[in-house]
Amino acid sequence: EPAKKIKIHQGVQNRDKRVKVCGWVHRLRSQKGLTFIVLRDGTGYLQCVLSGKLTQTYDALTLTNESTVEIRGVIKSLPEGKTAPDGHELVADWWQCIGKAPGGDESFTNLVAEGADPSILADRRHLVIRGETASAVLKVRSKVLQAFRAEFEHQGLTEVTPPCMVQTQVEGGSTLFSFDYYGQPAYLTQSSQLYLETCLPSLGDVFCIQESFRAEKSHTRRHLSEYTHLEAELAFLSFDELLAHLEELICGTLERVFADPKTKALIEQLNPNFKMPSRPFMRMDYKDAIKYLNDKKILTDSGEEHKVGDDIAEAAERKMTDDLNVPIFLINFPREIKSFYMKRCPADERFTESVDVLMPGVGEIVGGSMRMSDQKQLLEAYKTEGIDPAPYFWYTDQRKYGTSEHGGYGLGVERFLAWLTNRWTVREASLYPRWTGRCTP
Ligand code: 4AD
Ligand code: MG
Repeated sequence: EPAKKIKIHQGVQNRDKRVKVCGWVHRLRSQKGLTFIVLRDGTGYLQCVLSGKLTQTYDALTLTNESTVEIRGVIKSLPEGKTAPDGHELVADWWQCIGKAPGGDESFTNLVAEGADPSILADRRHLVIRGETASAVLKVRSKVLQAFRAEFEHQGLTEVTPPCMVQTQVEGGSTLFSFDYYGQPAYLTQSSQLYLETCLPSLGDVFCIQESFRAEKSHTRRHLSEYTHLEAELAFLSFDELLAHLEELICGTLERVFADPKTKALIEQLNPNFKMPSRPFMRMDYKDAIKYLNDKKILTDSGEEHKVGDDIAEAAERKMTDDLNVPIFLINFPREIKSFYMKRCPADERFTESVDVLMPGVGEIVGGSMRMSDQKQLLEAYKTEGIDPAPYFWYTDQRKYGTSEHGGYGLGVERFLAWLTNRWTVREASLYPRWTGRCTP
């Protein structure tokens, strides 16, 4: 019977058929004259059994983890009491080694051993991603991005691709990466927000999933220098409607992710205690958060009580979120600690219609706000912030040519994933993470 070429995840439909599978040797074990290979091809894992002469060749006797092989044979269901991925195994009748990986000191197992120094593992990220945990997180990431797109589509938003090379800042000058652009200063984008706002009159509500760059001086477990930024902007809506949309987006996306049985299983394996958030999310005013922190004796980084007007530092924010252990909409931050474009609260102009979404284990995963829709007010805000309005002419025009109440937000994809898959650091949710001093591999 000729062998049909399949990927491992197609094994179930091909039981009792003769197939040919290519992949990497994930695990290897010899026992009672049999060689067991757990084969990996990125779509799944398949136990393959070699017996008799197949186990006696030079290649068989010197086979190593991570070598590539082609194996042909019949997929057989396993009898009661025996277990293997998908409940079956490939009984090989032919195989060949395609590329042999080194053994000994240079072996994969040796290079990515558990407990190795994190900076060495960071150098070996290209090998680490072959591991079960790292590849599971990356699989979940792929589904999460698909689910966000499906949810946006469902809610009628249009996807755009703004530029990464820009000449304006969005979130303050201190974290800009700058470079020479044909003799002129330019930056890597911190946020596509301003461009999204200009799309409203053209495309209506819009979103993008684009890399953002922050020259962060802080070396924390949730800051990257390059991260995937999911941003959306919506027109003719109120602050309350913006919050309702955010709840819908987060919960709708999670429902789509969990509707896929394979992804659900991966998340359950990575994060067995994951709790699906219930709606409505807790709303907490910034001033009440300050009070909460002081009541619970959670201090600032310099060991003082919090005052209204203070930025809430990462440690305090995380402590509060972990204590409450539910998603929180932290709203109405003071003007001074937020960006120039944020709309002020009608009831008290010292505060803004702004929101951070906080998740247990991570803290802030989303930052958003209503935007100033009044041109004069925006021009004043540039002045207060010491921003030259000239390069922002296109952003200002947004208010000149038919303004509207509008708002939006940015969600850090790696932070969302760190929360969903219970990772200690956002670095684990990035394919090749960049942070202070790390731009390789
Ligand atoms: O709070 P941020 O700075 O807000 C903005 O950039 C807005 N202009 C977005 C908008 O309204 N369109 O960033 C938004 C989110 C944060 O909540 C966080 O999840 C993530 O981006 N983020 C980072 N993630 C990883 N590493 C960093 N250095 C990050 N900085 C922000
Ligand atoms: Mg923020």
